Amino acid sequence: MSGGAVAIWLIVIGLAVYAIYQPGPHHPRTTKLLVIGGGAVFPTVVLTGLLCYSLPMLPDLQRPAPTGSLQIHVSGVLWWWRIEYIGEDGQTFATANEIRLPVDQPVEFKLHSEDVIHSFWIPSLGGKVDMIPGRQTRLQLHPTRVGTYRGACAEFCGTAHAQMNFDVVVMPVDEFNDWLIAQRKDAKPPQESVAIEGQRQFLKHGCSACHTIRGTDAQGKVGPDLTHVGSRVSLGAGILKNGPENLARWITQTHKVKPGVEMPEFDSLSDDDLKSMVAYLEQLK
Ligand code: CUA
Repeated sequence: MSGGAVAIWLIVIGLAVYAIYQPGPHHPRTTKLLVIGGGAVFPTVVLTGLLCYSLPMLPDLQRPAPTGSLQIHVSGVLWWWRIEYIGEDGQTFATANEIRLPVDQPVEFKLHSEDVIHSFWIPSLGGKVDMIPGRQTRLQLHPTRVGTYRGACAEFCGTAHAQMNFDVVVMPVDEFNDWLIAQRKDAKPPQESVAIEGQRQFLKHGCSACHTIRGTDAQGKVGPDLTHVGSRVSLGAGILKNGPENLARWITQTHKVKPGVEMPEFDSLSDDDLKSMVAYLEQLK
């Protein structure tokens, strides 16, 4: 396919350059060459060839995932990612905007959309796949190198499309298993007094209407699951590095950081209330 694409590019660009240096706008020889060569005959022949070459490969796209594949459901939501790990034992848990994978193990993503068409893309690991409302699409990957990769939405989906990103962390198997065990657990009750106060503020300001923190009264389903938000690489769907300062910024200047986002901006919180809320959320590891 790449070879075919390069051939088309070379011939079309070659003809365009040739046409630029021809005298007069309607030189009949140039017109004929462009229409027959670059415009009609050549593309028809090459594209038909590539179509015949690629059609027999289609069934391959439907092949089931290799046994033992990690199963992850990802939903595109304006403008973030809902992520669910499906355990072989049926034990599932939700997270958001961050996918962790064990190195050298196959993974299958089942992709959905909850609103408009998004596209799931981790450029360093594989091709992009559309996420279409009412349909399920799939992507199989086999990461071979440990590292942190950037994922992004690759289909224009509205105001904050360019800020709909996620982190993909490929980890050694042992580390991944530890992470999995920790993520499956409910949030630990806060220990320090500032975090206890922060949890009170979180519930008082209605954050729980949209966010779930497993093991607490916060069971909202509209926004990202925050059960272990303190353990994540970034905030706001891959746009701010996770840390107390950025979290405070995200809570109080949400719409400046990410125009169009549905979360209301809590810019009237007192400094103390904000500090305690940040302390509470950051200790959710
Ligand atoms: Cu979602 Cu662009």
